[in-house]
Amino acid sequence: MAGGPVIKMKYGRVSVTGPEQCAGPQSRQGFKGNAGLPDAAPGADGTFGCGAKTPEEHLRNVFGKKMGFTDQDIVALSGAHTIGRVFKERSGACPFGYGEQAASKYTKGSCIVRKDKKSGCGMVGGAAWTKNWLTFDNSYYTDYKQAMDDDDLMWLPTDACLHEDPEFKKFFYKYAGDQAAFFQDYASAHKKLSELGCKFDPPAGFQI
Ligand code: HEM
Repeated sequence: MAGGPVIKMKYGRVSVTGPEQCAGPQSRQGFKGNAGLPDAAPGADGTFGCGAKTPEEHLRNVFGKKMGFTDQDIVALSGAHTIGRVFKERSGACPFGYGEQAASKYTKGSCIVRKDKKSGCGMVGGAAWTKNWLTFDNSYYTDYKQAMDDDDLMWLPTDACLHEDPEFKKFFYKYAGDQAAFFQDYASAHKKLSELGCKFDPPAGFQI
């Protein structure tokens, strides 16, 4: 619906009835306090939760060693930041947060998903990586310099390492020049990701 590739996978997520069925914050060995999800930035001591000293090492620890993704997969999956936003109240990785007053200039009122302007899912606010953050395209790769220069857009250390690391950047610039290649590699990596997240007993007839 946002304009990205069709991914041949079953959509949705497994229902839970309480927090005891969720992955705990320490659920992945070697990661601190975020269920093995990547850290937006290193801690005060300069290291990431997994002990990595650089963002590229952190991404390869999280997505490579723990989940089995290749460098190509990592660069393609990171392109998901073509959509969505960062909130002060959630990750805390940016100064922009919930509501009109705390919004960045690209996430205010009229551009927003939620037309009733109430708080909750789809509310105004936060900061995005791209200006058109409801459209899935390759602008994450083509417009990264704008994102770096504009205080109302996001560019995390883990985004920056994708155009700095010698291996990652081959894919980064390929996707900047070729949206079809991005869509194809993104769809394949996202399907792998969905299979990792679908380790449950599906009902009869349920196809992943
Ligand atoms: C490369 C390492 C990654 C880092 C460090 C990272 C970091 C973040 C952070 C800090 C946020 C903001 C959360 C908030 O404040 O609400 C975020 C949001 C998001 N991330 Fe990532 N992420 C990474 C990889 C990925 C991957 C692999 C995907 C999907 C394939 C992804 C998809 C998204 C989306 C769609 C959002 C927006 C969510 C929303 O609008 O509520 N990210 N990410």
